[in-house]
Amino acid sequence: MFNLRFTIQNLKSFLISIVVLLLLFWSVPTPTLAGNLSSAQNSPPLSLSLFPFSPSLFPPPFSLLPSTDSDEPVYQERVVHSPDGIGKFYLGREISQIMGHLGAAWLERPTRQFEEQPQELVNALHLKPTDVVADIGAGTGYFSFLISPLVPQGKVLAVDIQPEMLEIIETAKQEQQINNVEPVLGTDTNPNLEPASIDLALLVDAYHEFEYPKEMMQAIAAALKPNGRVILVEYRGENPFVPIKALHKMTQKQARKEMAAVGLVWQETMNFLPQQHVIVFGKKEAKES
Ligand SMILES: C[S@@+](CC[C@H](N)C(=O)[O-])C[C@H]1O[C@@H](n2cnc3c(N)ncnc32)[C@H](O)[C@@H]1O
Repeated sequence: MFNLRFTIQNLKSFLISIVVLLLLFWSVPTPTLAGNLSSAQNSPPLSLSLFPFSPSLFPPPFSLLPSTDSDEPVYQERVVHSPDGIGKFYLGREISQIMGHLGAAWLERPTRQFEEQPQELVNALHLKPTDVVADIGAGTGYFSFLISPLVPQGKVLAVDIQPEMLEIIETAKQEQQINNVEPVLGTDTNPNLEPASIDLALLVDAYHEFEYPKEMMQAIAAALKPNGRVILVEYRGENPFVPIKALHKMTQKQARKEMAAVGLVWQETMNFLPQQHVIVFGKKEAKES
């Protein structure tokens, strides 16, 4: 009898410990929803955790998953969330913190060339010399400057919401005497592009940080020419061995769901990069015509 009570007591303590551990794992509230950049900014998204696998392997408890009610607001705010996120969820995905300009050197790291093969990515965009490309979430302009020689009669609009990033782009542009890269200051909801003005919107490792993904993608879709494309490049969320924080990766399924929500039509996914998906979308009418 004593043994049975002792065992039940032990079992109870064990279960309570598991619940506490799970809550600790998913918690640490960060009240950054006001959109204050300085509080939401984050270091590079490299996963340096002692915990070798991303939390994406361990889905949150069911009570935390979004309901599918159609009258639900576009975004949900939750107190219990990842320390790498802003506590705001869109279509079941938590939006990540922004990589702040203090992490700019990470974007320019020499190892990026073999880790991400950026030149192969740019070659696979099949650009025409006259194309207008918007590099949205341009950061230091790493991709803007790789694209610039491929569109000598066109231009690259390097859009970012951090003025410090645009300053870095402006300095590099002047140093290298490049005339067809134009820094553009966007807002959280609007990339500030003219309607029907761009052939390609390229978003490399940026979309998962958009605080208002729906509004941003609606504005980007409106800025596309009729046969324009959106290309999302995101670290593969399906692969736990890609050494990037979970919220800075995306699964292909999630990316397609979020683009479909703003009427963008999936065209193809290219999987030639070592760690990232290259997912191509077009406008609905372009596909139908
Ligand atoms: C991880 S960096 C990637 C930079 C660049 N694409 C690269 O691969 O080198 C993400 C960038 O997206 C920018 N960003 C976040 N939200 C944005 C938004 N709504 N509009 C434009 N840029 C945004 C951040 O300021 C940051 O510079």
